[in-house]
Formats: sequence, structure tokens, C-alpha cells
Amino acid sequence: MKAAVLLSLVAAAAAGGCKNWGYPTTTIAGIEVVDTQIVRDALSLIKNSGLKDYVVKHQIRSWLFGAQQLNNNATLKSIVDPQAQAITILLHDLGWDQTPDSPWTTMDLRFEVDSANGMRNFVRSHPDGKQISERKLQQMWDAIALQGAYGLASQKEPLVWGSINGIANDYRGPGVFGINETIYNQIVAEFPADDLLTGTNETFKWFCETKPETTYDTWVEGWGTYFVDGYDATGHRQVDQFRTVF
Ligand SMILES: *[C@@H]1O[C@H](CO)[C@@H](O)[C@H](O)[C@H]1NC(C)=O
Ligand SMILES: *[C@@H]1O[C@H](CO)[C@@H](O)[C@H](O)[C@H]1NC(C)=O
Ligand SMILES: *[C@@H]1O[C@H](CO)[C@@H](O)[C@H](O)[C@H]1NC(C)=O
Repeated sequence: MKAAVLLSLVAAAAAGGCKNWGYPTTTIAGIEVVDTQIVRDALSLIKNSGLKDYVVKHQIRSWLFGAQQLNNNATLKSIVDPQAQAITILLHDLGWDQTPDSPWTTMDLRFEVDSANGMRNFVRSHPDGKQISERKLQQMWDAIALQGAYGLASQKEPLVWGSINGIANDYRGPGVFGINETIYNQIVAEFPADDLLTGTNETFKWFCETKPETTYDTWVEGWGTYFVDGYDATGHRQVDQFRTVF
């Protein structure tokens, strides 16, 4: 009898569809999120870094959007590990650090690679990082590296697009990926997004000024072309090999 009751409880939980990942959770801005040591440490890493406030808030909001996307959809939550998603989103812009002695920003790699490498180093050197398989860590790396290439990312593993969708919500606002206006407003009330576009704009111009070789033929190139004096991608693009006259 007891076994039957237990079984029916298990069945009810399964019908709810939510794979029990077994992580402790907490609530931030009204959103239920994973609350493990490695996620806490990812959060304090960005809060105590040289990253500007707008980047830190962008990464936190994106995490909350991503978490809520999973909370809204039990099927999605069963296939996207919410802890891996949290770490991926929280650290996806480490390469936006403009401080001269940044541990993440290099002069020769594009920012997505700097960020992905920074996230991977964080996980590998964390005492709990061993919980995350190399296969999963590769997907986390890919999600960060492909954050600006949704046409590629959307065809990859759920953890990849399931992480980028959280970030996308921060730029696209409510009405996409199941985030309604109530939830959106709840999150931006705690972590205001008014500096997101100007902050992103300034950062992308900085890449084009400071490490232009990493921007040619990427989605960042347009910021240089439109907004940075003296920036000229001509001669640096794939297509230039196919032109006879420069
Ligand atoms: C929930 O997520 C699954 C997996 O991505 C998707 O197939 C399904 O359409 C989603 N359901 C809703 C209601 O959005
Ligand atoms: C907004 O989404 C939340 C969580 O998904 C849901 O609980 C709430 O009912 C929705 N509100 C409206 C007005 O649709
Ligand atoms: C981005 O920077 C350019 C050049 O400084 C400026 O004209 C444009 O208004 C900025 N856009 C935003 C959204 O800040």
C-alpha cells in the first residue's frame, strides 16, 4: 500500500514532467533559480570582477530569463540542465572586461572565445566542476562561442540554444520564449536594463577600436564600419580574396 502511494507520487511528479535535477533552489526577483555553490561562485565572480555594472546586470537578467523559460516548460527543463545553463549564461560575456589587466580579455581572440575560455577555466578549477562532464562543458563552451550565431546555435544541443534564448530575451524583451510582460517587468524592476543598449554599443565599438583584427568578418564588424573613425574591414574579409580590385 505504502509502495503504491509512493509510486503514484513518483508518477505524479513524472507527469508534472519536471526531471528532478536535484539542485537546491532559491528565488531571485521572484524567479526560482538553482542555488548550488558553483552557481553562487559564478555570480560572485562577475559581481566582484572588473566587468562594468551593465554587463553584470545583463548576465544576471539573462540568467533569470533563461531559468524562467525552463520553469515554464517541464519538457524543456527535463532536457536542459539548469545548473549548466546558469553558469553558461552568467559567464557568457567575461570577454567584455575592459580593465587593462583583465584575466579574460585577450588582444588576439574574439570576445566570444575569451568568454568561453574563461567559463571553462572557471568550471575546471572549481571544486565542484568535476560534476560537469567534458561533453556538457563543451556544449557550454559552444553556447558562449555561438552567442551571436543563432543560425548555427539553434541546430545544436538544447543546452546550447536553451542558454542563448535566455540572453536573447534581454535584447528582445517580453513576448518571446514564453516570457510575458509581468515576468519581464518583475526582472527589470530589480535589475534595470536601461543601460543595456548603450553599454553593448560602447563595448562593441571598443572591440573595433582596441582589437579590430578580431572583429573583421564577424557580427561585430558593423559597429566598426558605422561608428569607429578609421575602421576599415576592406582587405580583411574572406570576400576580399575573391576581388581583383581593392
Ligand atoms: C516546451 O519545450 C519543448 C522542447 O523544446 C517544445 O517542443 C515545446 O513546444 C515547448 N512547449 C511550449 C508550450 O512552449
Ligand atoms: C506570466 O507568466 C507567468 C509565469 O510563466 C504566469 O504565472 C502568469 O500567469 C503570466 N501572466 C499573464 C498575465 O499571462
Ligand atoms: C551607438 O554609438 C553610436 C556612435 O557613437 C551612436 O551614434 C548611437 O546612437 C549609439 N547607439 C546606442 C543605442 O547607444
